[in-house]
Amino acid sequence: MLEAPVAEPEQRTTSQRIAALNRHDKPFHVVLAQQFDRDQIEHLCRLSEMIRAICGDRQGAQFLTTLLSHRRAMLYFIQPSTRTFLSFTAACQILGMPYNEVRNPQTSSEVKGETEEDTIQVLSNYFDLIIMRHPVEGFAERMALKLNQMRRALPIINGGSGKDQHPTQALLDIYTLYRCFTTRQNGERGVPRMREDIFAGKTIAFVGDLKRGRTVRSLVYLLCRYPGVRMQFIAPPELQIESDIIEYVDRYDVEYEFVDDLRHAIGDCDAVYMTRLQDEWDKAGESSRIDYGRYSLTEDMAPLFKPGLAIMHPLPRRHELDSRLDNLPQAKYWDQVRNGMWMRSALIADIFNVDTAIMDHYHSYYAY
Ligand code: NCD
Repeated sequence: MLEAPVAEPEQRTTSQRIAALNRHDKPFHVVLAQQFDRDQIEHLCRLSEMIRAICGDRQGAQFLTTLLSHRRAMLYFIQPSTRTFLSFTAACQILGMPYNEVRNPQTSSEVKGETEEDTIQVLSNYFDLIIMRHPVEGFAERMALKLNQMRRALPIINGGSGKDQHPTQALLDIYTLYRCFTTRQNGERGVPRMREDIFAGKTIAFVGDLKRGRTVRSLVYLLCRYPGVRMQFIAPPELQIESDIIEYVDRYDVEYEFVDDLRHAIGDCDAVYMTRLQDEWDKAGESSRIDYGRYSLTEDMAPLFKPGLAIMHPLPRRHELDSRLDNLPQAKYWDQVRNGMWMRSALIADIFNVDTAIMDHYHSYYAY
């Protein structure tokens, strides 16, 4: 019997797309930030904290390496990457999961004319998880739907898809914000809860190339889950955030404004999320005409910062984030790098259902 053709992602509603990517009401393939609700985000943030604590001693770190030593991961990264690639490899090492990589399709049978679809299907026979970075929007989702039709069920994690989404970056970003804005309640033990009102009344500014920056898109989706959050979109008019994101923000009744110059807004911000010009997507160098100075954070603005400001950047940075700010307590971008390793470990542990073993271990040895 012929299989019914799979509809292209664009023809499906977001809930249909999520249903195809989730299993047992939680993400199986991790492709879209909209797959995560508040409970799942909290679970992953707290699991990250536990893994971080457990890794602090030899006996704990050794315990973690037993959890997925019977599974294998493939990192199929055919777009440049430093942090995402290395933090996923570190996460695999933390969980004892052997991995392999394809970073240059020139070294694979794709040069003999094999399609990327066939390559992924081949990989699916050797590995138990595929982590993928790809320049084409929707490719990871298309592959996830394809793998759903195959006998061996294995998950895909999207490590960045074109200009569209970067859900694991958004998870590590929200984990960083959780660490910045959570204070332990009286008598609370172990890892603190992530309260529903954690971002109530907080202003989070997104700055720079918001049109083509996938990290911002994914983080906005996650933040919309939190009541009372305020957003500012600070970008040159030609690189402002796309209307689909604004429609989403409207649907969640989030208060937001468009701003044209970072200097006017910085004093009100609780977090500022800087991004670089994504000029690799230019058709004819058009963004070289943009004055990015108005969308840059410089040392002379430091007196305007709130004491608890979180300065964030997915990195790599260029001139939009002054390196003279690096040693301020408000600079959280190096923390983001390290948090990515814990969050990606937590995510893989959760997908393979070894999260309970980690929580049990934590509660037996570390929570007192
Ligand atoms: C980002 C990306 O690849 O989207 N980097 C990252 O994963 N930390 C941001 C960027 O390239 O500007």
